[in-house]
Formats: sequence, C-alpha cells, structure tokens
Amino acid sequence: MFKSTNPSDISQVITTVEAASAEQIVAAMRKTKSAQKGWAKLPAPTRGRVIANVGRLVERNKEKLAKLITSEMGKVYREALGEVQEVVDTCDFFLGEGRRLYGQTVPSEMQNKNLFTFRMPVGNVFIITAGNFPTAVPSWYIVPALLAGNTVVWKPSEFTPAVANALTDLFHAGGVPKDVLITVVADGEQTFSALETGLKESIINKVGFTGSTAVGKKIGAKTGEYIQSACLELGGKNPMVVMPDANIDLALDGALFAGFGTAGQRCTSLGTLWIHESIYDSVLAKFTALVENAAVGDPFKDVLFGPMISEKYLENHLAHLKMIQPHHKVSGSNATGKITAKNPRKGFVGDPEKGVFAHPVIVAGVTKDDELYRTETFGPLVTVGKFSTLDEAIELANGHGYGLSSAIYTNDPQNVWRFREGISAGMVSINNSTSGAEAHLPFGGNGLSGNGSRQSGIWVLDQFTRWQSMNWDWSNKLQKAQMDLIEIKHDPNFDLK
Ligand code: UN1
Repeated sequence: MFKSTNPSDISQVITTVEAASAEQIVAAMRKTKSAQKGWAKLPAPTRGRVIANVGRLVERNKEKLAKLITSEMGKVYREALGEVQEVVDTCDFFLGEGRRLYGQTVPSEMQNKNLFTFRMPVGNVFIITAGNFPTAVPSWYIVPALLAGNTVVWKPSEFTPAVANALTDLFHAGGVPKDVLITVVADGEQTFSALETGLKESIINKVGFTGSTAVGKKIGAKTGEYIQSACLELGGKNPMVVMPDANIDLALDGALFAGFGTAGQRCTSLGTLWIHESIYDSVLAKFTALVENAAVGDPFKDVLFGPMISEKYLENHLAHLKMIQPHHKVSGSNATGKITAKNPRKGFVGDPEKGVFAHPVIVAGVTKDDELYRTETFGPLVTVGKFSTLDEAIELANGHGYGLSSAIYTNDPQNVWRFREGISAGMVSINNSTSGAEAHLPFGGNGLSGNGSRQSGIWVLDQFTRWQSMNWDWSNKLQKAQMDLIEIKHDPNFDLK
C-alpha cells in the first residue's frame, strides 16, 4: 500500500493505492503486449487524433491537474501549470506527427528498382518515471510511444500516484484503450523483477527510464543483456558559467530559478555556479542576498520554492549537507537543514512544522577535488566556484562526467561558440537558465547523464520506432547490388591544355 501525503502538510493524505507486485506488473505487460498489434494497425493519423483529444482534455483540466501536482509533490503552482502546459505542448506536437511519421524514398544504384524506409513501432514499452515532473516527463515518453503504435505499461513514482492516475484517466478519456496504456504503482524491487521477466518473456521491447544514474546503470545493464538499449534520462550536475562581460542580474535570475525552483529537484537544476575570479566576490554577494531574501514556503503562494517532494528527498538533502567541508563558505539562509519552528527561515510563508521544507543553501569555494563537485545533490543546494579562463571553466564544467544541461552568461560571441564546442552536455543555454527546456527540442544527456538517447520533438521517434528498409526490384531479373553496376565511360587522365 502506498500513501501519498501533501509535503506542505504531511497530515493530509492525498491518496492511498495498492502496491503492484511483480506478477501484477507482468500481467499488465502481457495484456498491453497482446493489444499492441491492433493499436499499431490503426492509421497513424487516427492515433494522432487520439493524442489531440488527450491534449485538449489535459488543457481543459489544466488547473485541476496542476493543483494536484502542487498538493502531491510540492512544486509551486505556477511551475505546476507550466508542467501541465508541457504535456499539452507535447500532445500538440505529436498530433501532427500522426500525419507525418515519414519514411523516405531512396534512389537505387540499379534501374527498375526502388528503395524505401518505414518507421515501425518497437512494440510494448515499459516506462519508469520520477516524482519531480509527474506529468511532463511521462508524457515525453507515453505520447510519442502511443503515436508511433506502441503500447505502454507506465510505472510512475510511488510519491505521485494520484497525479499518475489522473493523467492516465485523461489518456483513457481521450480514447486510448485501457489495454493500450496501463499504469502500475510499485516499489523499485518489484519493478525491477517485473522488468527482468518482461525482458525474458520478450513482452517488453523497449524501456524508458528517468531517474538516478545509479538506477539507470542497473536498467541499462539489464536491458543490454537482452540486446535492448533503454532510453535513459539520468542525473546532472549542471554548470552555469558567468563571464565578466555578462549581464550579471540576468545571470543571477537564471541561477535562482535553476538552483532553487522545484526546490532544486529537477534533473536540469543548477549544480555549480562558476563565476569568473574578477567578479567572484561581488556576484557571490549578490547571489547570497537574493537567496537570503527569497520567499520559501506554501507552494500555492508567491514563493521561490515549496517543500521537498517527500521526507526521503529531505533525508538525501541532509546527507548532502554532511559533504560541506571547512574550506567552504555556507550562505543562503540563517540556518541549514529542515525548516522548523526551532530552526526557522526568515520570512517563511506558512507553517513549516506541517511539511518537509528545507533551508536554501549556497556552498561557495567548491573545487574539483570536493565530493560536492561531483555529486548531484537534487535539493535546494547550489555550489559556487571560481575560474580564471574560459578553458578552465569548460574543464570544470565537464570534469565530473555528467553532461545533461549547461549554461553560459556572456555577451561575447567568441565565448558562446567556444563554450558550445567545448561543453560535453547534451543541452546548452546561452544567457538562459539550465532549466526550462522547450518541449520540441531534443532533451537528454551524455556520460553519467544518459546513453545518448534523446526525448522530445522528432528525435524521440528514434526511441519508439525502428527503421525498416525495403527494396523493390521490378526489373524481373536478379540484379546484384555492388556487382551489376552501371559503368559510365570516362577519361581519368584528362588534363586541360
Ligand atoms: C527533469 O527534471 O527530469 O527543462 C526534466 C526543464 C523541464 C524538464 C526537466 N522542462 O527543466
């Protein structure tokens, strides 16, 4: 049994749901697997219409869904509205893809022969997602997967079952058959065991996972055993580089939103703010003042951030605080750790005792030898360090091995292009925050952040379809590729007089 509670007021139960066992998840996989051929047989434009219906229904229920998100996982209401809009945007993009889903016609090297490519659905997919984006990130998988003719078993976060069930209801109300999308709420152990059986029985043909790098490694290894490659969207330690010529106020607006929005629990959250040594002290002082004065508390009010997703996330944050070393300078609040009546935050909005709130923390003076340099903290904690040259900043920005999102603030185009070329992250922002990807650009990372898979826009189609190539020889004779070539006479020794 899973009980989800409101992290702003943990006495308030949002919902209780049965925890699915591995056997129940496998039963769901068998069910969707047997529905897949029928779903794929529908014309893609028809599936596009279904996605259109879902988009309109999500839009119609935008406020209700956003309220549920804020109540169940605690992000501020304005961000929750943005998250739901991302689902709508994803549906809007893919409803059109139903009328494209293009293959190609390709010239043949022989006469009276034609070549073609077709996108084929992969089959039945298993989607496993986290609680920080309980609707947007799942939709990045579910919408294109369904559009392309796949069926889906979705395992959402056990911290957001009410949101997951609401989103599933909207898919079903939009016309997605109940055996084409099944949602199961389960713990990690049961999920992994079902994944293994699903792969063994060949009833799972693709896995999509958004979550920690540690779990991503396990899923990647397991799918690899079955000659599958999962779509993995993992952690980040996203750098933001501030050059001396930057618009500093703009950079700090970006750092505040990226560092502390969603209480720092986005995979695109700001990891380390790298400030050029010539402006380090003044920029750090301004950043500190902004964070110290930011409103924290009730996510339905006008605050920078609300509670952590759950106690578990708070515990992780507290563990990360232990990584702070004597050479670090801590600021951002009048205290660190859990906000309580005894450990209050200046200007807190609401009653901290009721929920799972944490003080924002800036840890300045981070160097590449520190544990905090290479640890994704996934909470309201931003590390700050200094650099002297852009090359050094790029080295620091890449050196921990994560490569999801990155940002540079500068007004010099030379810096922009050198950064873009040198950074190993999958996503680069220029004069913009590390968070806030638009729903139709490729989203994904490299190194510890992912295995190169990309979500969103046309690029995600490569995750949920396989290319089938066809050649059609209508010459009525066996023409052998690479052997029966048409040779055109020419003079290779020709020189102009
Ligand atoms: C995530 O945290 O898993 O770009 C996704 C952003 C959001 C998505 C984050 N649109 O920050």
